[in-house]
Amino acid sequence: MSLLPILIAPDPRLKVQALTVDKIDEGLNRLIDDMFETMYQAPGIGLAAPQVGVAKRLVVIDIAKKDEDRQPMALLNPEILWFSDETSDYEEGCLSVPEHYAEVTRPARVRVRYMDRQGEIREIEAEGLLSTVLQHEIDHLTGKLFVDHLSTLKRGMILRKLEKAKKQAVRM
Ligand code: NI
Repeated sequence: MSLLPILIAPDPRLKVQALTVDKIDEGLNRLIDDMFETMYQAPGIGLAAPQVGVAKRLVVIDIAKKDEDRQPMALLNPEILWFSDETSDYEEGCLSVPEHYAEVTRPARVRVRYMDRQGEIREIEAEGLLSTVLQHEIDHLTGKLFVDHLSTLKRGMILRKLEKAKKQAVRM
């Protein structure tokens, strides 16, 4: 397994429409393992393939707390089948938007259909943190970041800071 570099916004590769995964082969399994390792090392609770420069509809999630056993979930071609009218607010962050957090309002509950890494089609209904993470990660597959849910002013402020930090990093 190996760690993958995580793209930092603003980056055009984070804005792509990811493509459907149509076969589960050795390469895809290696990518899933590498994405888990990269997410755990970061550390983060979710990572979408476009964040490591792969335009595929694939996300990995593990919302287990530090003192709990790992609960890795790999979701291929996830889609939201239903979401509640009721909303909830969550302070979100993103490995591609380091050191910035903001409250995002989303549907409180969702039902998601996906394929697991064995090729089985599954459906889950989620609420709370898992619901938020699922929606956040699935957003990445259509080129959307949590900052796209904020006001233009807030989004612009965060992206400008990230851009500035990137330029400084290149000079070092
Ligand atoms: Ni993210």
